[in-house]
Amino acid sequence: MAPVITIDGPSGSGKGTISARLARHLGWHYLDSGALYRTLGLLAQRRGVRPDQVAELVDLARNLRLEFKDGHTLLDGKAVDAEIRSEQAGNAASRVAAVPEVRRALLEWQQAFAREPGLVADGRDMGSVVFPGAEIKVFLTAGPEERARRRYNQLKEKGFDASLAGLVKEIEERDERDRNRSVAPLKAPAAALEVDSTALSIDEVFARILVRVQQTFPDLGA
Ligand code: DC
Repeated sequence: MAPVITIDGPSGSGKGTISARLARHLGWHYLDSGALYRTLGLLAQRRGVRPDQVAELVDLARNLRLEFKDGHTLLDGKAVDAEIRSEQAGNAASRVAAVPEVRRALLEWQQAFAREPGLVADGRDMGSVVFPGAEIKVFLTAGPEERARRRYNQLKEKGFDASLAGLVKEIEERDERDRNRSVAPLKAPAAALEVDSTALSIDEVFARILVRVQQTFPDLGA
């Protein structure tokens, strides 16, 4: 089995940036499981399938034609990068992700990403459910206000309209839903390296994680 590093945490904790950078640094594969749930949420919206229509959702999940190619997320061969990054898609993702049958239907698809030379997997339950045997588990957090501020800047950069107060509220609501759902709730897996990034730069967070990578895989020369 190829080595796996999992990076879990809430939206805006910096895990997407850190995970992609770590995968690039090591030359490993990268799984952005948030993009998977976001794409499914988008497809459900497009097809008019509600979160309580479980059989229909599972059907969409099983037949999802999703690819990650050259840094792009493709649904049925078409890039959906901008669409899945909207707040609306994030909320749709959080709702479909709360359905246990949907998570089960996507489990093996995600596990198939663990290929040589290794995988960096980013999400909410990568270390707890999808890759419980991962060699390194990281749990990244940051305060809700700081996460809302980062999200606000990101959305503005991409030309989306956003209100900071509205984002704080949405982030708190989404955290609540992700933390309290019955399957794979958002929490730090046992033996995870926990990093609070509220007052740290991306470089500082990356450096802390790299220390753990060097200890665990001394032969990589990372
Ligand atoms: O990390 P993100 O913001 O792109 O994730 C979008 C939503 O998908 C988030 O609200 C929770 C859900 N999600 C999940 O339940 N499990 C994962 N492994 C990844 C994301």
